[in-house]
Amino acid sequence: MKSRRSILGALALGALLVGCSKSSAPQQGAAPGASAAPAAGEVLVGAYFSLSGEETQFGKDSQEGIVLATDELNAGGGVKGRKVKVIFEDTKSTPQEATNKVRQLIDRSKVVALLGEVASSRSLAGGLIANAAKIPMISPSSTNVEVTRGREFVFRVCFTDDAQGVAAAEFVTKKLGKKKVGLLYLAQDTYSSGLAKTFSEAVKKLGGEIVVEKGYQKGEKNFRTHLDQLMAAKPEIIFVPNYYTDMVPIAQQAKEKNIPGSMFVGGDGWDSEDLLKGAATELEGAYFTNHYAPDVPWENSKRFVAAYHARWKREPSSLAAQAYDSAKLLFDAMGRAKAIEPLAIRDAIAATKGFSGATGTISIDKDRNADKPLVVVQIKGGKFVYHSTVNEKQP
Ligand code: PHE
Repeated sequence: MKSRRSILGALALGALLVGCSKSSAPQQGAAPGASAAPAAGEVLVGAYFSLSGEETQFGKDSQEGIVLATDELNAGGGVKGRKVKVIFEDTKSTPQEATNKVRQLIDRSKVVALLGEVASSRSLAGGLIANAAKIPMISPSSTNVEVTRGREFVFRVCFTDDAQGVAAAEFVTKKLGKKKVGLLYLAQDTYSSGLAKTFSEAVKKLGGEIVVEKGYQKGEKNFRTHLDQLMAAKPEIIFVPNYYTDMVPIAQQAKEKNIPGSMFVGGDGWDSEDLLKGAATELEGAYFTNHYAPDVPWENSKRFVAAYHARWKREPSSLAAQAYDSAKLLFDAMGRAKAIEPLAIRDAIAATKGFSGATGTISIDKDRNADKPLVVVQIKGGKFVYHSTVNEKQP
């Protein structure tokens, strides 16, 4: 028969376990019946991405890059002797859900740092919450200048659209020698309209002219009238800084009108397997500015492409490469931080210089943006082909 003391002990333990399981949902990977608290010493990082909705591919690619980086880290013993666990949440491709999920990751999951999002509109929403809560966040791929502006806890590992707009304008006016430029962009989107603006300002400074400009609305599927109006102004080139989701129908409808693929130049939002699947022939000869290309001639990129290929059996998109870099840079900063806690991690990210990433050598500048190279990619023979590096210093 059990003594009174051990019965009380068992009751107390039971109460404790019930209390734990009520306080938060079980973590993935926890042993059955174990408490919901993270395994001893596990570092929790939050990741918020579009795992469903219109830009699902953004989220899926990014997730694969982060999972690869995390597995590599943990296989090597983790950071400061602790394993890292990344908790993924789905923004459903909307800014509102980005807000909700960042709140949840901070308040409920108690993450020490955040990775996300891809679309600038969603990083702006999530970053507002992260910054107010003083939890460091790194966006892998949001290029709009406002994402990090005035937010001490928000960083990015990609270039900004200030850099990208100027690079695209220089490429168009100097390398391609085209001075009469048409512009087609998604009017209400932060990324698309922001990049259209920096690009057109730079074109004008470089002696070019925006001969026609068309802003389309979200949800538009028929671009034929826009294309007619663009062509009527006789541009030598049309810059379309949008996401691949809209670029596929635009390219298909342009083809009906015999507008050659080489008429188009885009930005990093074009980078997706889906663009090639939907409109590779239509866009044959087109160029776009990007973070990276699978055949980029940099040692570290080659290492990444091989590792990604071994793990996921496909070629990585630039989103996968950027997300991989965001996680690696975060882990590197955690290793250098005085302690694995938000403020110290923030300071270590801010101090990052010469980090060797898959998308180039990255230094974080005083505005929490990445100083790094940019590449021009061409669509050729159904593939993304590296054309040139725009900005500086590669190993
Ligand atoms: N740069 C885009 C943005 O800020 C996101 C993006 C990057 C989309 C790369 C596709 C590929 O919204």
